[in-house]
Amino acid sequence: MPHPTLLTQGRIGSVETRNRIVLPAMDQNSCEDGEITDLNIAHYEARARGGVGLLILETSAVAWPIGATSLHQPALSEDRFIPGLKRLAEAAHRHGSKMFVQMCHHGKTAGVDAMQDREQLVPSVPLPADENDLSSVTMDELMKMAGLTGGKRAQQRAATIDDLVWVVDQFADAAERVQKAGLDGIEVHAAHGYLISTFLSPHYNLRDDEYGGSVENRARLLVEVVSAIRKRCGSDFGIIVRLDGREYVEGGITPELSAEYAVLAESAGADAIHVSASGPNSMGVGFTNGPLPWQPDQYLGLAAVVKQSVSIPVIAVGRIFPDAAEKHLKNGDCDFVSMGRQLLADPDLPAKLLSEKPDRVRTCINCFVCVAQNFWDGAPICAVNAELGHYDEGPLRLATERRKVVVVGGGPGGMETARVAAVRGHSVTLLEKSPHLGGTARFSSLTTPMNAELVRYLSTEISLLDVDIRTSTPVTAGLLRELNADVVVVATGARRERPDIPGAGLPHVFSGDDLRGLLTGDDPAAASRLPVHRRLMVSIGRSLGFMSSMDRVRSMSKRWMPIGKRVVVVGGGLVGVELAEYLAERGRSVTVLEEGEKLGVEMAHPRRARSLFEARNHGVSFITGAQLTGITESGVSYLVGDETHTVRSDAVVIASGVHTDESIAEQLRTDGFDVRVVGDAASVGYIEGAVRTGYLAGRSI
Ligand SMILES: Cc1cc2nc3c(=O)[nH]c(=O)nc-3n(C[C@H](O)[C@H](O)[C@H](O)COP(=O)(O)O)c2cc1C
Repeated sequence: MPHPTLLTQGRIGSVETRNRIVLPAMDQNSCEDGEITDLNIAHYEARARGGVGLLILETSAVAWPIGATSLHQPALSEDRFIPGLKRLAEAAHRHGSKMFVQMCHHGKTAGVDAMQDREQLVPSVPLPADENDLSSVTMDELMKMAGLTGGKRAQQRAATIDDLVWVVDQFADAAERVQKAGLDGIEVHAAHGYLISTFLSPHYNLRDDEYGGSVENRARLLVEVVSAIRKRCGSDFGIIVRLDGREYVEGGITPELSAEYAVLAESAGADAIHVSASGPNSMGVGFTNGPLPWQPDQYLGLAAVVKQSVSIPVIAVGRIFPDAAEKHLKNGDCDFVSMGRQLLADPDLPAKLLSEKPDRVRTCINCFVCVAQNFWDGAPICAVNAELGHYDEGPLRLATERRKVVVVGGGPGGMETARVAAVRGHSVTLLEKSPHLGGTARFSSLTTPMNAELVRYLSTEISLLDVDIRTSTPVTAGLLRELNADVVVVATGARRERPDIPGAGLPHVFSGDDLRGLLTGDDPAAASRLPVHRRLMVSIGRSLGFMSSMDRVRSMSKRWMPIGKRVVVVGGGLVGVELAEYLAERGRSVTVLEEGEKLGVEMAHPRRARSLFEARNHGVSFITGAQLTGITESGVSYLVGDETHTVRSDAVVIASGVHTDESIAEQLRTDGFDVRVVGDAASVGYIEGAVRTGYLAGRSI
C-alpha cells in the first residue's frame, strides 16, 4: 500500500480516527439563520462516505450573530442549534468518520457586527494601517463584498476585561452544545486574524494589561478558553487548537512564537495543535501566503517546528498531496494531515488511496475558485468537481434508458460530459480531431501545470469507463449516422480572432495557441511562419525530443524558446497574464497591453492577485486602457486616452478575441441531430464553465 502511515488509525485525546486524513474547516455558507441545512449534511456526509478520518465543521460562531462573519455560517449560541449539529454527528458517524466543530469569534472580520451596528472586538485600536490591497479586485467583486456588512463601514473597539470574560463563557457554552449534539470535539480557532489570533499576534495586540505585552499575556485569552472548555466538557471530549505557525506580516507570529503558544495550549488541556498560517492583505496576494497557500507543502516546516515543542499530536495543512503527506508523517514532522481544497475537489480521496487507486484522485488545480465565493458569502464551487455547492441537485443516477451519446471535442467539457454520461450507463463515443485529449486545458498546462492533472484525471476515468475514444477523428454527419448517435454533445471550444488592425497578419504575430503549438510541435503552420533560424530551432527541438511531453516542453523552454527577446502580449485576461508570466520566466522582456482597466478578470481574485504579483516580479509590464492601433515588424502601437505610444517587439502574442462558436453545432442540427453544446463553444467559462456545463449535459441525457 503506497500510503500506509496516512491510512493508519490515529488518536486525538480520547478520540480515535480510522486514518490520519483531516478535512479542515471550510466555510460552506449553507446554513439558514444559523441552522444546519440538508446542504451542509450532504456536503459533510459525502466526505465521511469518502473515508475521511476526521471532519472539522466550518468555522461556527460561538456567540452568533455577535462576532459572526456570516448569517449563513453555523451558529452555536443557543440550544435550538443542537438538533442540526446532532444530524451532522449522525451523518459523520454513520460512515465511520469522527467530527469536530471549529469554534470562533471573528473579531475584526465579524461582518455581521458591522451590518448590525455593533463594534467589532479587537485587542487594541487602531488596527495597524491596513492590510487590504484592493488593486486587483474588480468593481463587481467589491460591490458583492460590500454586501457582507450591508455596505456599512466596520468600527472596532478594544475588548474590555468584561468582554473577554463573556467571550470565554460563550466558547464554553458553545462547546457544551457541541458535546450534547454527540459530536466528538471542537477546534478552537486561534488563527487567521480572528479574535483569539489577534490577541496572540504581536502585530495586532498592543495592550499593556494582563492580555498583552508578554507571550503569556497574549496567550491568556486562548488559555482561558481552552481551560474553560476542558473544565466544562471533561476529558472525554477532543480539543484541537488551530494556530498560525506564521503570520506573513512584519512583527507577526513566528514559528518559534507559535511553538510557545502551542506549549501553553497543551498545558491548558488541548489534545492537538493544527498548524496553519495567515497573511494580511486578505483581498490581495497576502491571502495566498496565508491562509490559502500557493505552494505545495508551504506550511509543513511550521508544523515541524511546533511538533518539536509539544507532546500532543500536530496536524499539518497547506496543499499537501498524499505522497508528501505519507513522507512527512513518516519523518515525524506531523501526526495528521489536513487536506482542504483537495477534499473539496475529490471527497473520495481516502477511499481511492485505500483501494490503491491514487491515479483516480481528482486533483485540486489550485485555481482558488472555491474560496473566492466566500468573499461574498457564497457557497464554494469547484472548477474540477461540478457537484460542489450543488448538492441540491442530488447524486448522479443511472439513466432510465440507455442511449448512444457522441461527444465532439476532447477538452475538459467534452471529457466531463463523456464521464458523466458513461457513469449513468449510456454508451459513449468521444471524437477528437487532434491526436491528443485535453483541448485548451492540455495546452494551458504549459503555463499552468496543474491543468494537466485535470486532463490526466478525466482521460483516465473515461478510458476506465469504456468510453470509445477516437482521437485524430473530426466529426462528420456520416460518422454520427454510422455511430447511431441519439444525442450529440458539441464541446469544440471557443473561436479566437486576431484583432482587425494593420499588421495583425505579420509572420511574427502569434495567437496563444500558435505559440503553444510552436513549442509542442503540434502546429507546423505556426512554425512555417518563423524566420529560418528560428524554424531551425523548432526542428532541432523536435528532433531532440524537447516536445515529447508538456512537462518536458515546460522545462526545456527555460533554455530553448523559438521566439525573440521582446514580446508584446495583446490582452491581459487569464490567458495573457499566464503567458506573460511564462515568457518572462524564460528571459523574455514582456509587455502586456490590455484594453480594459483590470487584468486577469476571469481568474478567481486570490489567484489573480498572485499571478499578477508573480508576473510583475518577473519584470512583466502591464499597460491597461491600451487601444491597439497597429503592428509593424519592429513594434506595436497603441493609444492610451488620446496619446499614441509604441513598444518595441520581436514577437507579438495575441491573447484576446475569444468568442463562442456554435458553428459545428448548428451544422449538425441542420443535419437532423439532437445537439447540445457545452464549454466555451456555448459560453466562454474556461475550465470551471467547461466542467460544469459538461457535467450538466451528462446528467441531463
Ligand atoms: C472554501 C474555503 C473555506 C475555508 N474556510 C475556513 C474556515 O472556516 N476556517 C478555517 O480555519 N480555515 C478555512 N479555510 C482554510 C482551510 O481550512 C485550509 O487551512 C486551507 O484551505 C489550506 O489547506 P489546503 O491547501 O489543503 O486547501 C478555508 C479554505 C477554503 C478553500
